[in-house]
Amino acid sequence: MSQPKVTVVAAVSLDGAVGYRGKLPWRRIPGEQAAFKRLTSGGVLLMGRKTYESLPRGFDPGDRQLHVVSSLGPNDAISNAFVHVTISCALRMLRGGDREIFVIGGTALWEVVLGHADRMVITHVLAPFSRTADTWFPVLDWSKWVQIAGAKVVTWGLHTDVIAHRIEYRRKHR
Ligand SMILES: NC(=O)c1ccc[n+]([C@@H]2O[C@H](COP(=O)([O-])OP(=O)(O)OC[C@H]3O[C@@H](n4cnc5c(N)ncnc54)[C@H](OP(=O)(O)O)[C@@H]3O)[C@@H](O)[C@H]2O)c1
Repeated sequence: MSQPKVTVVAAVSLDGAVGYRGKLPWRRIPGEQAAFKRLTSGGVLLMGRKTYESLPRGFDPGDRQLHVVSSLGPNDAISNAFVHVTISCALRMLRGGDREIFVIGGTALWEVVLGHADRMVITHVLAPFSRTADTWFPVLDWSKWVQIAGAKVVTWGLHTDVIAHRIEYRRKHR
């Protein structure tokens, strides 16, 4: 049986920002939540403990499984997810299954997983946010990735502070 695909999912500002004080640096990107749900349907969501805590209250996993990496206890607040002690431990276990694995942050998880990922779905937020950010996407060698034609969606709206487009990338042959 072939190993399940590993996909990195992130929304990243022009200057690499992803988070601020446990939340996103921007208010909201219209259509982003629906697109995220469509993309990850039926898969496994792998995330760090702080990302888990940043999920909206009452977050509905639907047909997705939640897996949280956390090295320090107690983790009593994590109620609806599997908890792992290391990223590599979580990946090893999940790669034995048959569900696509979506790694949804934060920084340490992306850093480790980028070496194993086959694709990335990145929402590029077309504004700088470094002044109001404390969490960053890892520095990446973009030349190792190729943009998939036709995967671009432009998003904008009245109730947002940003314009963004979502692009799917596949890793070039190793
Ligand atoms: N823009 C986006 O796409 C996006 C996506 C996700 C998150 N975010 C934002 O990013 C911020 C959260 O990300 P973050 O990077 O600060 O935190 P995070 O990666 O979500 O969580 C960090 C925690 O995960 C556990 N962990 C991380 N690496 C580990 C390892 N190697 N082994 C074991 N456990 C490990 C530890 O939990 P313990 O402390 O419990 O041991 C650590 O404190 C929030 O602001 C959130 O809103 C943005």
